Amino acid sequence: MDQKSVLVTGGAGYIGSHTVIELLNANYSVVIIDNLCNSSYEAVRRIEKITGKSVTFYKVDLLDKKAMVEVFKRHPNIGSVIHFAGLKAVGESTKIPLDYYHNNITGTVLLLQAMKENNVKDIIFSSSATVYGDPPIIPIPETCPTGATNPYGRTKHYIENMIRDLCTAEPDWNAGLLRYFNPAGAHPSGILGENPLGIPNNLMPFLAQVAIGRREYLSVFGNDFPTKDGTPIRDYINVVDLAKGHIAALEKLREKPGCVEYNLGTGKGKTVLEMVAAFSKAVGRDLPYKIVGRRAGDVTNLTANPAKANEELKWKAEVSIEESCASLWNWQSKNPNGLEDCPGDAPPESIICYI
Ligand code: NAD
Ligand code: WQD
Repeated sequence: MDQKSVLVTGGAGYIGSHTVIELLNANYSVVIIDNLCNSSYEAVRRIEKITGKSVTFYKVDLLDKKAMVEVFKRHPNIGSVIHFAGLKAVGESTKIPLDYYHNNITGTVLLLQAMKENNVKDIIFSSSATVYGDPPIIPIPETCPTGATNPYGRTKHYIENMIRDLCTAEPDWNAGLLRYFNPAGAHPSGILGENPLGIPNNLMPFLAQVAIGRREYLSVFGNDFPTKDGTPIRDYINVVDLAKGHIAALEKLREKPGCVEYNLGTGKGKTVLEMVAAFSKAVGRDLPYKIVGRRAGDVTNLTANPAKANEELKWKAEVSIEESCASLWNWQSKNPNGLEDCPGDAPPESIICYI
């Protein structure tokens, strides 16, 4: 009997795969569902290689409620859900908002319904610092007013509210709304990391592709922000630290806290140019960049106040920026093209279970 079985949606993705490793290391058993729209089953193989443990993986879409219910039926020991699955590109969300609302919001409604029908009422949700918009308080406490500024961010904000409403209406639900700041780095093994399809939207994977020669230079989006070097400040949190925050939050749900929000960040902000310098040091040479105009919607500073998570979850980000840069470079240099196979490839029957 696997008493501690966790269903992980989006578990083949960047943060999900690192969290599955930490779950397995903590002796949870794991069932993943992922539709592989932004990931690859190769990530699951590598999770198994790193941990020496096996994971049950279903290629299932959140929008397919029948299949999700069937997964719960097949695994009656699932006691909680960590919900990563979602579309996450801010720019794309402004072009295809309905796809974002449907995938992220409808998908979450169906997941919550499937959970309820199977009497699973503990959920950890991947929220984002984006729910703070342009925050008036730095570092940002969880009590800071929320309200996102783009369709992607609004899906996170609405889902947070939806889960809060559910916990109020039905007090036997418990939820951890984890607001991630900027995840960075890769697994120290060097065989798992972020695997962006197409041109990376985010700073660190773009820089990594400049370093490996897949991009000519980094465009730095503006140097006229009110910071020490004019470039925006973000709170870059190591992905393994972030993954460990989920284990701490799962443990917290055992105390039946109702709906709780936590910032998962380091509390230390870095500018874009500081990150370019730190990653250049890890690579061992200066990486080329050009200052260009601001990117629409970028705010000056998103730095977490992580005190609530530090105290209540007994969790703290520990990995330094230097180590995050080193692990990212280790991953990128050993896997210049990321995970070799592509979504859509015929999957090996040994890895994927079908409904
Ligand atoms: P990711 O794209 O690597 O992982 C998301 C996974 O969800 C992918 O494997 C994708 O295939 C899957 N997925 C998407 N829609 C699905 C659906 N309808 N059914 C089944 N699977 C589906 O992204 P990530 O960076 O690992 O982010 C994980 C979560 O954390 C997302 O919800 C994201 O919004 C949130 N988040 C990410 C960041 C970040 O900067 N990476 C920051 C804050 C919050
Ligand atoms: C960081 C800094 C850019 C790329 C986004 C989402 C947020 C969350 C995390 C999911 C900014 C600058 C970037 C480049 C650059 N995701 N930059 N050149 O914008 O803080 O947050 O990802 O929830 O919702 O908005 O992260 O990595 O895109 O940018 O100069 O090519 O790097 O302007 O200052 P961001 P990012």
